[in-house]
Amino acid sequence: MPVETALLSADPDGYARAAALLRGGALVAFPTETVYGLGGDATDDMAVARIFEAKGRPRFNPLIVHVDGVETAREFVEWPHEAEVLASAFWPGPLTLVLPIKAGTGISGLVTAGLPSLAVRVPANPVARALLRAFGGPVAGPSANPSGRISPTTAAHVKAGLSGKIAAVLDGGACDVGVESTIVGLTDAPVLLRPGGLPAEAVEQALGAPLARHGAGGAVTAPGQLASHYAPGATVRLEAERREPGEVLLGFGQVECDLNLSASGDLTEAAANLFAHLHALDETGKPIAVSPIPERGLGRAINDRLRRAAAPRD
Ligand code: TXA
Ligand code: MG
Repeated sequence: MPVETALLSADPDGYARAAALLRGGALVAFPTETVYGLGGDATDDMAVARIFEAKGRPRFNPLIVHVDGVETAREFVEWPHEAEVLASAFWPGPLTLVLPIKAGTGISGLVTAGLPSLAVRVPANPVARALLRAFGGPVAGPSANPSGRISPTTAAHVKAGLSGKIAAVLDGGACDVGVESTIVGLTDAPVLLRPGGLPAEAVEQALGAPLARHGAGGAVTAPGQLASHYAPGATVRLEAERREPGEVLLGFGQVECDLNLSASGDLTEAAANLFAHLHALDETGKPIAVSPIPERGLGRAINDRLRRAAAPRD
């Protein structure tokens, strides 16, 4: 059934209305420092089912749970030493930890898609934090885009993709980081499950040890890491030195292009611009060429998302 999607402002009234909607099992998109999340009460099976329905997301893909701090996280998951190290260094912030889930937490089984682990994160965005405080419980929140499409970094992106399918969007302006959180698995030896807004190098430095790389053993342990993902409607060509006839060019550094991720070659600025620029170029309806991006720091997360955008689709 189509619903009217309300745009709520980031003020006490907006937080109260958003929290009341969540308590009633409705869905509210909210800003985080990485991308907008599609929030639902993580303990409410119906609310979580509605998330999958609104996104058109395959059921086997588990969700991240957002909490207001370490104390709350520890109610839901086992807490090995590495979790303490990484949480003290990087929470609140763009890091998700996958940890063994405790028994009897009340978290909906749909959230973990049947896995014995749970992905938790404490966002830094003040609007997200205010919402989590007003709601007072764990909020399941995948990125607030239809499954397989580009993640949203503004309230307008969310409305463009999910209007009529969710109760409200809490408008917190544009996201600072612009790519999703880095996901580190701690159910065994620490492993990088998804490169993201926190450089893997920083995680390794805090741990004092290298991270195992996701996929090194061949197993897909972050089930959302399907090849074709974050897809714009248009085709995407990577490592493009110049624009071919008919293409639009998403540039990086000193290049002549249609939109530049960062003219000064700053990877942090490029990450923040990535999805908004892809959304904007996709609207031209033309094939998108993309300049080479260095594979270091946030460049890894940017290239990961770009490779998915460029992957062949069914
Ligand atoms: O920055 C972010 O992480 C954003 C904001 C909204 O917090 N959220 C986000 O969620 O990107 P989503 O659902 O689009 O991506 C979550 C990823 C998926 O690839 C999923 O497979 C993986 O996390 N994941 C979730 N739970 C997992 C688990 N228990 N074990 C392994 N991977 C898990
Ligand atoms: Mg996503």
